Amino acid sequence: MAGGGLAPTPDGEAKHYNGHVTVFVIVTCVIAASGGLIFGYDIGVSGGVTSMDEFLQKFFPSVLRDEKNAAGTNQWCQFDSALLTAFTSSLYIAGLISTYFASTVTRAFGRKTSMLFGGAAFLVGSAINGISMNVAMLIIGRLLLGVGVGFANQAVPLYLSEMAPAQLRGALNMGFQMATTIGILVASLVNYGTAKLKGGYGWRISVALAAVPALVMTVGAIVLPDTPNSLVERGLRAEAKATLQKIRGTEDVDVELHDMIEASEASKQVRHPWQSILRREHRPHLIMAIAIPAFQQLTGINVIMFYAPVLFKTIGFGNSASLMSAVISGLVNVLATTVSIGTVDKFGRRILFFEGGVQMLVSQVAVGAILGTFFGSAGTGKLSPAMANLVLALICIYVAAFAWSWGPLGWLVPSEIFPMDIRSAGQAIVVGVNFFFTFIIAQLFLMALCHLKAGLFYLFAAFVLVMTLFVIFLVPETKGVPIEEMALVWKKHWFWKKYMPEDHVRTA
Ligand code: BGC
Repeated sequence: MAGGGLAPTPDGEAKHYNGHVTVFVIVTCVIAASGGLIFGYDIGVSGGVTSMDEFLQKFFPSVLRDEKNAAGTNQWCQFDSALLTAFTSSLYIAGLISTYFASTVTRAFGRKTSMLFGGAAFLVGSAINGISMNVAMLIIGRLLLGVGVGFANQAVPLYLSEMAPAQLRGALNMGFQMATTIGILVASLVNYGTAKLKGGYGWRISVALAAVPALVMTVGAIVLPDTPNSLVERGLRAEAKATLQKIRGTEDVDVELHDMIEASEASKQVRHPWQSILRREHRPHLIMAIAIPAFQQLTGINVIMFYAPVLFKTIGFGNSASLMSAVISGLVNVLATTVSIGTVDKFGRRILFFEGGVQMLVSQVAVGAILGTFFGSAGTGKLSPAMANLVLALICIYVAAFAWSWGPLGWLVPSEIFPMDIRSAGQAIVVGVNFFFTFIIAQLFLMALCHLKAGLFYLFAAFVLVMTLFVIFLVPETKGVPIEEMALVWKKHWFWKKYMPEDHVRTA
């Protein structure tokens, strides 16, 4: 795939970046994307262990008691426990805070330093979790995992977007989401296996195994090169050139390197990225950095990811069938992500956002209607096995839609739109907002299910409608545009162009 990215120059002429997609860049991106494994394993593991009786017995005995007592009574409310949700969501609070520190590390010391730090925090956290004797240890371990994902999610998407040649940036960046979905699936398979172990220690294996992806990322971060953009940003031009030549497979990388140097010169004049991001010309970027991750979470995806086994129990599956159903939706999640990888650089981001939005909306309304009809508001009804299977199928249709739209695009689009000077800060906002909303959903879902009942699914459907309109009117297409040339996209947009200063073509 020769030719490189097409970059229109200020006077409108096409400018070529040289080089092709090398094996080196692909291997590098695959290793870096393993940061997503950590994120995914974590998402998947907590829902499973919190549905294991031995785990509940040891740390949350009151939840187990309530669950047993609730049998045959109100299905909507049987898992409503503040303590249990605090366990699940503590990770996101830690991630939210640490990602701001990560942005400074990523900018000053490079993308790989943040990945290394994230991997190490994660290793320690999973060890503590594996040997937890009480709730305090459990939560401390989980907070460390949060620090790990705070760093990893800040650095890895940037790393991938900067390493990739423009024409393949979408697919390579999505390696992160692919790894995330694999992590979730592996976690649910592990849970399925460990839940069957006699002796009550199965959950320990589940949480401790998080150390495996952490190790992959830590070792990966040691051996990987840093991105040329980051090397330029830190004044290491000769190294940057050598890396660029290696990853693009050609000696002649001057045009691309020149763009990076120019971006970095401009970036040096900005002393405070956090102030710069608030300037009027960065308004579109700021709005995207907040809206895209918020919307990604408001799809309601993590209701399924965290609570799938609980949800499946609610609709009447037994323990083992519930964990199995989580495996099925996890598999759909992985497979559907490949659709996005295969199409995003060809058909663009906007069409995927749109199709995924419509498909999610339809399936959410259908799930709401079925659960509303059969459980009623008292939550005492029962679903026939056929109906329960239909709900499972609809949930899979919903998960597939998320997996080729908001899942990967929710990380890709923000990571490619910022000019270099605010890129690290912008990405920290993305991670922070994402985790904040993940926390809110994790914290409120069980309570909301208890109060809103089937209406909860309609609420998520309404959010999906709003975000789809947002995409139609306000999200520009970024397919194939070199990352340091992105300013042109905003300049041409019907709405955002009024925020772009006339006098400069590149905001970087
Ligand atoms: C989201 C996660 C979600 C996962 C599901 C990611 O893009 O950020 O919150 O659990 O996708 O695959």
